[in-house]
Amino acid sequence: MMKLLDALQWRYAVKQFSNTKVSSTDLRVLMNSARLSASSYGLQPYNILVIESATLRKKLLPFSYGQNKVADSSHLIVFAAHSQVGNATVDRYIDKHVQITGKSHEDLRNYSLHMKSALNNKTLANKQEWAHQQAYIALGNFLTCAAAMKIDSCPMTGIDTAGYDTVLDLDKKGLTTSVICPIGYRHQDDTQSTAPKVRFDYDEIIQEL
Ligand SMILES: Cc1cc2nc3c(=O)[nH]c(=O)nc-3n(C[C@H](O)[C@H](O)[C@H](O)COP(=O)(O)O)c2cc1C
Repeated sequence: MMKLLDALQWRYAVKQFSNTKVSSTDLRVLMNSARLSASSYGLQPYNILVIESATLRKKLLPFSYGQNKVADSSHLIVFAAHSQVGNATVDRYIDKHVQITGKSHEDLRNYSLHMKSALNNKTLANKQEWAHQQAYIALGNFLTCAAAMKIDSCPMTGIDTAGYDTVLDLDKKGLTTSVICPIGYRHQDDTQSTAPKVRFDYDEIIQEL
């Protein structure tokens, strides 16, 4: 268990990455950790883009407020929430559930209706917020697993998400950018690596009742 806390102490939001690449094997494991994240009802209303292309990342730079690590890192990961959340979201999930568990659509009918009703009770804005929240859970899991694998990262929302949507053609794919995360390995000159970790004390955050 201490190993996990050590990994979380080790990780920090990297300001400058080296040019070392994450291997395709490690990348696959890391992306699977995001895929295996928990989500509300299991609906996973997001896609995750893994961008290695230097050309594409250069196009994203003008929408990254000078944060060059978007391009100067091993890979750029974009967590993109589904723009439309509703009955189709549930139907897609139920189809997958049937395929994996062998249950019938009829077996899952009430569950399906329950999810649809819960989603349809939300306003459009609430649905979008909900989808982004689910993407953030995947991000959190991803950051922890990256740290456990000694892969560096920097979660980022300091970007123009509309610009990202345009460059990545996300509108047409029914997606919208939630949060991005360059990954790779810290540069030896990244002074942030030795900065003390600023966190509230245990009792300031955690109340044991
Ligand atoms: C949702 C989110 C957005 C963030 N956006 C940026 C960003 O745009 N640029 C950046 O350098 N760091 C960004 N950070 C990193 C935080 O500043 C950093 O995690 C925080 O200061 C705690 O420090 P540590 O992660 O290095 O321990 C972001 C973190 C999160 C979780």
